[in-house]
Amino acid sequence: MMSVVDLEILELQEKIQKLKRTLNAVILAHNYQRPEVQDVADFSGDSLDLSRQATKVEAEVIVFCGVHFMAENAAILNPTRTVLLPEALAGCPMADMITVEDLREWKEDHPDAVVVCYVNSSAAVKAESDICCTSANAVKVVESVDRPRVLFVPDEHLGRWVSRHTKKGMILYPGFCPTHLRLRAQDILAAKERYPGAMVIVHPECSEEVVDLADAVLSTSQMLRYVKQSEGKVFLVGTEAGILHRMQKENPDKIFYSASSALLCPNMKMTRLQSVVEAMERGQHVITVPEEIRIRAKQALDRMLAVV
Ligand code: 13P
Ligand code: SF4
Repeated sequence: MMSVVDLEILELQEKIQKLKRTLNAVILAHNYQRPEVQDVADFSGDSLDLSRQATKVEAEVIVFCGVHFMAENAAILNPTRTVLLPEALAGCPMADMITVEDLREWKEDHPDAVVVCYVNSSAAVKAESDICCTSANAVKVVESVDRPRVLFVPDEHLGRWVSRHTKKGMILYPGFCPTHLRLRAQDILAAKERYPGAMVIVHPECSEEVVDLADAVLSTSQMLRYVKQSEGKVFLVGTEAGILHRMQKENPDKIFYSASSALLCPNMKMTRLQSVVEAMERGQHVITVPEEIRIRAKQALDRMLAVV
């Protein structure tokens, strides 16, 4: 029997489907979104998938269920569409750890280096960078640049992980993801003891100690492909817990455990179905980027999209 909560979810999802038709809108959702929000999306994926998808949208409105920088990427890449971010305060603390002024100062100290910018950053910081990357393509992007030294912003942990796979000299900005850093090596060790034989997959935003304990270090969409193809049956997942929804749905014969109960990103969890309904009914919150910044940020994103 359906619970009152399930019925409410169904009603909101039906309302959203109708609003999509009325507004000529599509919903893009990140893999960390709440399950019921992922289920109403036309497309869900990691930051790279979502950037690529944003360039292809033909509908007039993109409702972006994710955090601010992701909606901003869509507005940069497809400026003739209206991009709505349902929760205005859904930001990314890592993206806020570097300002354009910080980056300019840093560039002055290292004038010979190429700036590679993780997409978890503001449009202004992207505009000041040479090329963007995501967790799915960071190694390839760094390898693609034509100079031996790279300034990597803002995630120190992703940067350190990349530095293990390249001969380029990597200078790392000290930004981090507070959610991924809550996963500790002792959590993995305890989970491995509890589920012997389980495979450990983690995101490269995790600490070095955690990465060292993993069987694979992957972006969220890479994780989804990995678990599908793997012979393994039980997985300990070291990234935001929202990813478990699709993993379990797409692999009913396999078992997935979050590597820690602390792996919840408060910003990713802000968006609820009700926020999506309100966003569509009220046309809020429109994400725009000043044209002068947008053009330069787009160059950095386009260079990334040309690499992979
Ligand atoms: P992915 O691009 O791997 O989905 O990661 C985005 C993110 O915000 C990780 O915290
Ligand atoms: Fe930002 Fe971390 Fe949340 Fe990803 S999980 S959006 S990096 S705070």
